[in-house]
Amino acid sequence: MCGIIGYVGDKDAVPVIIDGLKKLEYRGYDSAGIAVYGKNGFDIVKQKGRLVVLEERLSSLMRENKPLSGHLGIGHTRWATHGEPSDINSHPHTGSKNRIAVVHNGIIENYKQIKERLENRGVTFVSQTDSEVIAQLAEHYYSGDIIDTVIKVSNALEGSYALGVMCIDEPDLLVAIKKDNPLIIGKSNHGNFIASDVPAVLKHTNQVYYLNDREVAVLHEKDIQFFNTDREPLQKKAETITWSMDSAEKDGYPHFMLKEIMEQPKVLRDTIQSAVTDGENRKVLDNIDIIRFDKIMITACGSAYNAGVVAKYVFEKLCRISVEVELASEFRYKDAVINEKTLVILVSQSGETADTIAAMREAKSKSAPTLAIVNVVGSAIAKEADYCIFTAAGPEIAVATTKAFSAQLILLYILAIRFARRLGKIQPEEEQKQIEEIKSLPDKVSEILDRIGSIQMYASTCIGYKSIFFIGRNIDYAIALEGSLKLKEISYIHSEAYAGGELKHGTISLVEENTLVVALSNYYYLYNKIMSNAEQVISRGAKVLLIGNCPKVDQESGKFYHIVLPQVSEIFSPSLSVIALQLFSYYVAANKGLDIDKPRNLAKSVTVE
Ligand code: F6R
Repeated sequence: MCGIIGYVGDKDAVPVIIDGLKKLEYRGYDSAGIAVYGKNGFDIVKQKGRLVVLEERLSSLMRENKPLSGHLGIGHTRWATHGEPSDINSHPHTGSKNRIAVVHNGIIENYKQIKERLENRGVTFVSQTDSEVIAQLAEHYYSGDIIDTVIKVSNALEGSYALGVMCIDEPDLLVAIKKDNPLIIGKSNHGNFIASDVPAVLKHTNQVYYLNDREVAVLHEKDIQFFNTDREPLQKKAETITWSMDSAEKDGYPHFMLKEIMEQPKVLRDTIQSAVTDGENRKVLDNIDIIRFDKIMITACGSAYNAGVVAKYVFEKLCRISVEVELASEFRYKDAVINEKTLVILVSQSGETADTIAAMREAKSKSAPTLAIVNVVGSAIAKEADYCIFTAAGPEIAVATTKAFSAQLILLYILAIRFARRLGKIQPEEEQKQIEEIKSLPDKVSEILDRIGSIQMYASTCIGYKSIFFIGRNIDYAIALEGSLKLKEISYIHSEAYAGGELKHGTISLVEENTLVVALSNYYYLYNKIMSNAEQVISRGAKVLLIGNCPKVDQESGKFYHIVLPQVSEIFSPSLSVIALQLFSYYVAANKGLDIDKPRNLAKSVTVE
């Protein structure tokens, strides 16, 4: 949720850190701050608001001839959990004696107890955050060895944290530690970095170490050492990041979201390639013995959960195996009926979502094998799951997921086809036919993207709706869930998705003039049913946007608008519907002039519960 970065090197840390924070702003954007080790000790500037507010403040300091500068620094972009967004609650935090400065991503669960203890010893706190206790506790413990201090602090903390720490007695040293929140260490030829995510350092290096829980990283300009919490040295191997800086730039598009929507044909091709030919994913898939299992449980959050709902229809149809889909936040507390004969599939773009991590650990504690579908290599879920296959989406920057979702769907389809074959539910010829159809999807996605103008035009007429409902039946209902989530999160228009048959069991009472109903229709045998739902809402004053490859409707009356999709088998139709749904949501939000890549109150990678 928050983003942290730290740098020690021969360059001025300020522009390096600000540039890195720009790449991390997707993780939280209600305040930002920076601390550098300047000529007279720590210089700290922190501001409520977007990163640009901090940048403006730094520029005005420059104009006043008081520029911030130094070769060691830490920075933070915040998504508030404890304490409102304000200058004082922004990071970095220092102890009262200004000897230790800290940036933190995570939640300290025992902060109240620590705070009370320190207050009883006369420490005065200035913020309402949980994070300040880290800096205050560090100062309390500090007696000349900052590495020992960080270890001691880590031993005392409960909860999740990725920390960057500077000490007033160490002008050339940056210390980091993490537990249950991501932290990478970057090694470049001009200095070394800590960061919450790779894009923050990619401009400087493609060599990164992934820090494991409770490993300590000690960074100087020219070397990096790793220790465990007994202070024994650890040998770690740097990994080479293969994607380039371009992935973290907008590349001429007005928003990352549009760029990422447009990247989907390539993302799908790369993901298919890795799973059906001899890529790494293929090897993992070949190792999963589906015959051992009598149930599949899919668990995830948000859009990743919606991918799971689509997959349930596909698995059940192709594999004739029972599939349950659970929100990870529910699964983790429900004492699920699973055992070693249940395959638990976790879906997560970031691989760091707190509820999905907890769901994975819950599954493991019940001896259920876990298979993760993850985008971020080196993430917690990727490391801990028994099996992991990767979506080849590259870094996804927009908060609303698009390309990672589409890649998740593709891997779930391929998984279902492979399992169906292994279970003897389909013959080799049928398996091959299905795989060929999967391979045709990227071109069909391109066809839809080529018609972007008509979707843009229609969406521009929809900004006035107070409510937009999404309906579909069967797998069209599953993808309607994603359409509705996408719309509400970036356009702030109220929206719900319903199974078409459910409408008249309550929701239809909300349908009136100035309601739009988006009806998904990719099932010929359900076409008449969804059309009768459409007629029912039209007769109550609603307008209908039809999306699908069903027969074209007469648009003359002005009551219908039809986005016609390319022909495809029903079970794979969500891969096409979702493209139209993403573009529709994007253009509604764009026409409203909203901050599409950073919707209010949201952050990518929900690493807190
Ligand atoms: C919606 C969206 C979120 C994520 C959810 C899970 O557009 O992006 O709903 O899908 O927070 O995140 P991951 O996939 O990182 O576990």
